[in-house]
Amino acid sequence: MDSIKIVGGHRLDGTISISGAKNAALPLMVSSLLTEEPLTLNNVPDLADVSLLTRILSGLGVEITMHDQNGQGDVGSQVYTLHSSHITSTVAPYELVSRMRASFWVIGPLLARCGEARVSLPGGCAIGMRPVDLYLMGLRALGVHISIEKGYIVAKAPRGLIGAHIVFPCVTVGATHTLLMAATLARGETVIENAAREPEVGDLITCLNEMGARISGIGSSRLVIQGVDRLHGATHEVLPDRVEAGTYALATVAASGNVLLRNARPELMETVFDTMRQAGAQVNIVDEGVRIQHDGSLLRPVNVHTHPFPGFPTDLQAQLMALMTLSGGTSRICETIFENRFMHVNELLRLGANISLNGKMATVYGATHLKGTEVKATDLRASACLVIAGLAAEGITTISHVYHLDRGFERIEEKLSSVGADIKRCRG
Ligand code: EPZ
Repeated sequence: MDSIKIVGGHRLDGTISISGAKNAALPLMVSSLLTEEPLTLNNVPDLADVSLLTRILSGLGVEITMHDQNGQGDVGSQVYTLHSSHITSTVAPYELVSRMRASFWVIGPLLARCGEARVSLPGGCAIGMRPVDLYLMGLRALGVHISIEKGYIVAKAPRGLIGAHIVFPCVTVGATHTLLMAATLARGETVIENAAREPEVGDLITCLNEMGARISGIGSSRLVIQGVDRLHGATHEVLPDRVEAGTYALATVAASGNVLLRNARPELMETVFDTMRQAGAQVNIVDEGVRIQHDGSLLRPVNVHTHPFPGFPTDLQAQLMALMTLSGGTSRICETIFENRFMHVNELLRLGANISLNGKMATVYGATHLKGTEVKATDLRASACLVIAGLAAEGITTISHVYHLDRGFERIEEKLSSVGADIKRCRG
């Protein structure tokens, strides 16, 4: 199993290019199931989760071709063409769905296009329960008959989907994606209230509209979808990754330095950048993206609650916590989205942090002097938190189980080395 070794204490200076967003690329790839014509996606990141979804979609009959964006054979952003001319299976198996929850989302387009789907329940997850009850509530409203057989959702809509009024009791990104996709081909109008407003949902809506869907309300919590008979092919560019950008922004402050995040979209990250400024970092919007600067002076503590967009994202909570171990006071970080997203705390304690947990609230007592040691990555964003801590720590930090990182960060060692970090992957 690979590990990552970081020698802490090096400033970061230079430019990091932000890749396409994992959490936008995945639903966009799934949406290719809605049309028999090809969907071409530019700026798809080279990530383990993208490869896994490729396997799942191929199993359903989608023909997928991929080439490097610049045609130079470089690793990095890629162009994917996904062609679902014939869907040959409507089954998404446990072996694959249990490895990545986003694969459950195929249930929406499969029902819209084929009138049936048999999709495994995703099973357990490192960050919380993550049930699928709201997906099923929404699909039932669209006229789908659902039963559960041997761990699989067996969903049928032999006479097609019928538009409905769906009100989510809480904000859910995945169920919004799934219902949106399903409703594009439903008969009549669907209204989704309390829809997720995450930029990745907006990116999916833009692409679906480019494919001929009729969706209004982009960026708002009320989406109105007028069903159409068919969708056609399109070419779409995946949105830049705000979580990757936020991670490198926080890393720059933790290590000190001056880094341009090329292609970062500041308007999608206002809460994150406000929080960083409050802590004492310099965040400047420039033509090419966002410039982050920090001179190493003592940071101020912050109090943050994670919330759906436009609130502080849960996907940056762990990384912010790593930074706050370095502040000059006591920070409070409340996780309101997932019930178990504090697995990184014990690993930060191993590096010398002083953090106490009480339910959803982590109290981070700053002014700690982190010292490198061996730590274990427990999930994707927790791994990024340990990378940030390792960059700031004295001595060597070795992070094991880094396959988690490969799910969501494209070439992280290469990007951080290019701005001065001493970080390398040890194959094992
Ligand atoms: C998406 O997960 C993201 N994943 C997550 O990113 C992100 O943390 C999350 O949204 C919140 O922003 C992708 O986009 C691939 P939810 P998703 O449905 O859609 C509860 C990362 O690190 N809920 O918005 O699965 C659920 O348990 C990942 O990149 C129900 O109760 O999240 C959670 O508490 C991790 N019933 C809350 O809603 C349901 O039927 C929000 O989950 C559905 C969700």
